[in-house]
Amino acid sequence: MATGALRSGCEGGAGADGRVPSPKGRGKRKRKRPNKPQGKGPSSAARGGRGDPGAAEANAAAAKDGRSSALEQPLELAQPVFFVGFMGAGKTSVSRYIARRWKLSAIDLDTYLERREGRVIRDIFAEDGEEAFRAIEADVLREVGRSPNPSLVSCGGGVVERPQNRSALGELGTVVYLRVSADEAASRISNKSSRPLFNDIESARALCERRGPLYDEAADIVVDTAGKSVGQIGHEVVRALKRCGVLRACKEDAS
Ligand code: S3P
Repeated sequence: MATGALRSGCEGGAGADGRVPSPKGRGKRKRKRPNKPQGKGPSSAARGGRGDPGAAEANAAAAKDGRSSALEQPLELAQPVFFVGFMGAGKTSVSRYIARRWKLSAIDLDTYLERREGRVIRDIFAEDGEEAFRAIEADVLREVGRSPNPSLVSCGGGVVERPQNRSALGELGTVVYLRVSADEAASRISNKSSRPLFNDIESARALCERRGPLYDEAADIVVDTAGKSVGQIGHEVVRALKRCGVLRACKEDAS
C-alpha cells in the first residue's frame, strides 16, 4: 500500500483535535487504493458540540473497554484515512477512539474548518449559504489530506456531495464509510443546532437515502454501525485497515 517515510504512529500520537500535525519532512507520497474489504454490522457514538467533538464518547468508550492502550502494539498510518458517513454516524468518536488507543493523529475536518475560518459552521451557512460552505470544505479537505503526516480524518457528512471530493478522497487516502440510518443518527445527536442540515427527521431520512450511493462510491471500507459501541466499531475499522495494509506496525517495533 502506500508509502513514504511514515511517522505518525511512532511519535506518540498527537492531539486528536482539529489541527493538522506539523510536517516532519516527508516526501511526496504516491497513494494507491487498497483492496476494498467489506465491513459489517452497526452503532453508538454521537458527537456533542464542535469545541471538542467526539471526545466524551471516545473517552467513555475507552474507559468502558477496560483494556489498557499500553497493551496495543503501536501502529502507523501508511496514508490518511477519511471517515465519511451521515451526521451522527460516529465518525469523530470512532476516529478519536482509534487515535487514543493506537497513538495516532486525528483531525476533525469541521473543527479544523471552523478554526481556519474563525466562524462556526452554523454561521457560515446562515451568512454565506451552503455552496460557500462546500467550497471551503473542499479546500480544507485537500489541505488536510496533503499534510505530510497521515492522520485519521473525520469528515463532515456532506463531503461526498461534490464529485471532485469523492475522487479526491480516494486519491488522497483510504475512505472508511460508517453506515447509519437517519433514525439511529437522530437518536445519537445531542446537539442538532450545530448541524444546519439536520432539521427534521423526514428531511434527514431523504438526505441520508440520497447520499447512500455517494458514500458507497467513495468508500474503500464499509462498516455498518447499528447496535455497535464506539469501541466495537473502532476495532472493526482497525482490523480492516490492517488487512489492507493501511495500518501497520511501527518500523522500530516491527520484528
Ligand atoms: C453536514 C454535516 C456536518 C457539517 C455540516 C454539514 C452535512 O458534519 O459538516 O453541518 O451536510 O451532512 P457532521 O457529519 O460531522 O455532523
